[in-house]
Amino acid sequence: MPQVTNQDKAKEAAARYAVEHVKPGMVLGLGSGSTSKKFVEQLGAKCRLGLEIKAVCTSSATELAAKQHKIPLIPIEQVLQIDLAVDGADEVDKNHHLVKGGGGALLREKIVAFHAKTFLVLIDESKLVTRLGKFPVPVEVAPFGASATLEALSSLGMNPSLRKKPDGAVFITDNGNYTIDLHLNALIEHPIELDRQLKNIPGILETGLFLNYQPVIIVGNSVGNAKQLEKK
Ligand code: 5RP
Repeated sequence: MPQVTNQDKAKEAAARYAVEHVKPGMVLGLGSGSTSKKFVEQLGAKCRLGLEIKAVCTSSATELAAKQHKIPLIPIEQVLQIDLAVDGADEVDKNHHLVKGGGGALLREKIVAFHAKTFLVLIDESKLVTRLGKFPVPVEVAPFGASATLEALSSLGMNPSLRKKPDGAVFITDNGNYTIDLHLNALIEHPIELDRQLKNIPGILETGLFLNYQPVIIVGNSVGNAKQLEKK
């Protein structure tokens, strides 16, 4: 049996907090990653007890988990607005800017977050940073011209690496694209500027910088409590 770590307990607590904010009739956006998976498990338990909601998924992995937990799903094409999107993050700074995409689902996650009335981000304390950038910033790129895109990022000093799977094959996103991770070697002073600079490069379809998305950040701890993070 795998050991339950303090981080697992913190993620669990954040997921529990989030599930209490789900109301009948809501259209939910289900994020990706291990924290989102905990939310999916707890949401599934509520659905089995009779909670009626519909959900869209941000990745095939989440879709699989949601189906296993019998959560009613609707295709994104049928959704114009999402009541509540719930997702994890790799880093959160004091302005509530985020780095996301560690799981390679950033494009769908960003689309879902953008169309959500409320965007709940569930983290444990290790994700809180004074400045973004220690975690490599992922960008989703078109396979067409990806070598040139990599070269352009390299010449800007962004230290890019093409994401690969453990078996060495190129990691392909659910959208059929590549992911490039930027190992910036320094904390990001101007995330908005960086985001703009990245999006100026054709072939970069989206970045893992979630800036000004007005997320409600829920921080769980290892004792099993969770609270909303106030903006300083
Ligand atoms: C996936 C993501 C995840 O939300 C992020 O990587 C956090 O993952 P975890 O909850 O496993 O720590 O952005 O693309």
